[in-house]
Amino acid sequence: MINWDELKHIHVIRKLGEILAQWFTTDIFFIDERGQIKNFDPSRLDSELRNPLSSALLAKERGRLIFMKTLADANEKALKSELDHHSIPGPAGIERFIVSRITVDREYLGSVVAYCYLEDQLTPAMITQAKQTLGAFGLDESGYMESLSQLKVLDEQERRYFLELVDLVAQEVVTFHTEISRREERISALNNELGVRYSYDSMIGKSKPMQDLYGLLDKIRSSESTVLIQGENGTGKELIAKAIHYNSPRKDSQFVTVNCSAFNENLLDSELFGHVKGSFTGAIKDKKGLFEVADKGTLFLDEIGDMPLSMQVKLLRVLQQGTLTPVGSTEQRKVDVRVVAATNKDLKEMIDDMQFREDLYYRINVINLVVPPLRDRKEDIPILIDHFVNRGCKEKNLAVKTFAKRAMERIFDYPWPGNIRELENEIERLIVLTGEDKNISMEILSARIRDHGETLKMQGARVAGKLKDSLEELEKSMIKEGLRRTNWNKSRLAKELGISRAGLIMKVEKYRLDKRKIPRSGEAA
Ligand SMILES: Nc1ncnc2c1ncn2[C@@H]1O[C@H](COP(=O)(O)OP(=O)(O)OP(=O)(O)O)[C@@H](O)[C@H]1O
Ligand SMILES: [Mg+2]
Repeated sequence: MINWDELKHIHVIRKLGEILAQWFTTDIFFIDERGQIKNFDPSRLDSELRNPLSSALLAKERGRLIFMKTLADANEKALKSELDHHSIPGPAGIERFIVSRITVDREYLGSVVAYCYLEDQLTPAMITQAKQTLGAFGLDESGYMESLSQLKVLDEQERRYFLELVDLVAQEVVTFHTEISRREERISALNNELGVRYSYDSMIGKSKPMQDLYGLLDKIRSSESTVLIQGENGTGKELIAKAIHYNSPRKDSQFVTVNCSAFNENLLDSELFGHVKGSFTGAIKDKKGLFEVADKGTLFLDEIGDMPLSMQVKLLRVLQQGTLTPVGSTEQRKVDVRVVAATNKDLKEMIDDMQFREDLYYRINVINLVVPPLRDRKEDIPILIDHFVNRGCKEKNLAVKTFAKRAMERIFDYPWPGNIRELENEIERLIVLTGEDKNISMEILSARIRDHGETLKMQGARVAGKLKDSLEELEKSMIKEGLRRTNWNKSRLAKELGISRAGLIMKVEKYRLDKRKIPRSGEAA
């Protein structure tokens, strides 16, 4: 089933509708496979309709009935046909409208109807015919003549563009529908999987990559080997390091974190290995290094890719010998520490660039954990959201909030360059913004998340290619024809086309339609 209500929120579809309304004065209707109109609400009549005849017909009970009947007949025709679209006469008999089929997996799901236009200038004979046809329907024909005269007359070329645009709307509906179903299938398949683990300590996630990670963490529980955790920013490297420690036999000793990028070389040296009194200015007493603080426990070397080369040598020695020498001392001390290191850098590449020692790399990379970015495990997004919402609301003593479906979808579609941390911050922000309100709507999402899908869709291959080309061609021909008709009166033409004068001038420039560049007939080129 197509989610018809959602269609009006799809940017491309809305945009195409606006273009059709603006250039051809047509309205777009969606009908389902039984021929029922899906996007017409009598209570909001005038605000949405742009076509003079559909507005007039739908405004009155009788006209509405006839109109609905016409569309139901058109649906019958589309249903039984193999053709992508049909051009069909409307209730007045002389105006025409387009019905373009929506087909998914060869199944007919409904149509897009674009109502309506004229193929020829109105003649007295046509007016008589319209009066008769409308009269036969029991419609008060005189009221509709004004509307008929306002309809756009489309020549053959314009009709071709017009049809192409209507077909594009139908294609966009198909794209939207398939995308949504695929996403829903993926989520429900995952939710139905039995026996998957939901979390590991405070780590949340039940996607396949996370299950693999949990499996690995189980295996290395009682191992003493060093671990290297690699992953992009905010993917949970620190959380994993903690899980390793708190699930190991060392859990009753300390878990100590050193951020290697936060110190210069000398400070890192004394921070890690300690120093003796007087070894440098400011060393007023002996100080234990973090290696010793972590004795019998775990030392987490965060951002190890930022460790200066000279320090890498020292670290390698400690890892190989199990002994260290504090700064300014000659005495060697024994330590029993398990090292877990993390980085978001590509250490292999750094080795090639001589920025990281290969021997140290192999020494720390005994067990390698790669944390998948959030964009590769979107299935985890709903449970992560649940987790962050529950936690955040509890902290703030608020009733638990729920997400509007559309807000959820936008969050799902966003590529999360900042990963879980970015998601966590966004949820925190939404909780604060909604205050006592229990619903989180799409409108309050951060703009980058809310608007992401839209720009993406507008840049999509098909839209960027076919639509853009055909729109440009149409635009060019309309401007060219308009310039001749208005005798190069750009202000008047701009008004007619509904764009600014500056905008028109730019387009004239772009399409090289300037008067001086178009040779007049009879003039030598
Ligand atoms: N699987 C997860 N479940 C729940 N929360 C998570 C998960 N992964 C990460 N987080 C949360 O996301 C935030 C970032 O995680 P963490 O600091 O461990 O990432 P990181 O990889 O060390 O980031 P950075 O590269 O910036 O140092 C933390 O607040 C953490 O609690
Ligand atoms: Mg970190």
